[in-house]
Amino acid sequence: EEPTPDIFGLPLKYVSLVTLAVQNAALSIVMHYSRVSTPPSLSYSPASAVLLNEILKGSISFGIALWRVSGSDARRPFNQLLHEIFSPDCWKLSIPALLYVVQNSLQFVAISNLPVATFQVTYQMKILTTAAFSVLLLRRRLSSTKWVSLFFLAIGVAIVQIQTSTSAHAPPKPSTLVGSAHESAPRYMHIMSPLKGLGAVTAACFTSGLAGVYFEMVLKNSKADLWVRNVQLSLFSLAPALVPVLCGPPVPNSHGFFADLLNNFGGWAWATVLIQVFGGLVTAVVIKYSDNILKGFATSLSIILSFLASMILFNFRITPSFLIGSSTVLVATWLYNQPAGREPTILVNVVNS
Ligand code: C5P
Repeated sequence: EEPTPDIFGLPLKYVSLVTLAVQNAALSIVMHYSRVSTPPSLSYSPASAVLLNEILKGSISFGIALWRVSGSDARRPFNQLLHEIFSPDCWKLSIPALLYVVQNSLQFVAISNLPVATFQVTYQMKILTTAAFSVLLLRRRLSSTKWVSLFFLAIGVAIVQIQTSTSAHAPPKPSTLVGSAHESAPRYMHIMSPLKGLGAVTAACFTSGLAGVYFEMVLKNSKADLWVRNVQLSLFSLAPALVPVLCGPPVPNSHGFFADLLNNFGGWAWATVLIQVFGGLVTAVVIKYSDNILKGFATSLSIILSFLASMILFNFRITPSFLIGSSTVLVATWLYNQPAGREPTILVNVVNS
């Protein structure tokens, strides 16, 4: 493993984990706001946002990669970089690239149909899928304590889900059908469908687990530079991200990618894309210097942050089932991250008996 570089005297490993937690919390809030604060007929197309995200992320990664190659003793840095980008094994990135484009699109469906905090907690199922794919693809072995904590994680997520799906069957109350389900004063008619949101978030958990583990596998089984890998990832994302922009269903008020950028992208939409771009770059650093499991821990920290923010911004009321479900998720996440041999003894006894 490569030693972790420092940033302002602090290990990049921990700086990136904390940054990712804050980024996650900020993204779900800003993204949710960007979808529900505009009437649907004036809103930007998620397909444009996903494409813009890849273009920006790819360009920034290209810039960093070029800067790094120039710093080495390469005689023609630009040619050297192109040579590295179009390496014989670059096709490996096509798989996570496609998965991430699907995931980034599903995220928009989920966040437009669920309250912010429900989305955040349910999205923690990522830890479960990531573990499953780590076992399958990286042949990692998990202790019984880790499997138990994963089981509790699923239970915790389910408790939060029950609350959301029952509210979908309840007689139409203005407070659950208009605006955010827990918003006291919705700004625009925005019809949410929690079941659709839960379906999207579940699918996104699968693509997240598979893509994350796949990217980790490619990164750690080869010597290629992280930023070169990121450029390859963005290049392979362009085709799948372009398809819905060119042939997707017509979006109200949208006349193509550039018209969408000029007419429908307001401050919240730009903020969403910029936070996503930043998050993608930080995620790559986290996967390189930590792993997908520590990444799960960092994002569960972001639940607490978005709880606090939702209470302040969206008037989110915490219900008992939400509290029980999310506490279970947090305890399970903590347990999962206990070093081997340091698990609480009561639990080890229960597991071994
Ligand atoms: O939720 P999860 O951690 O799976 O999300 C990962 C996000 O980071 C995705 O939006 C993906 O596009 C982005 N990513 C990236 N570059 C990487 C790895 C992930 O942009 N190397």
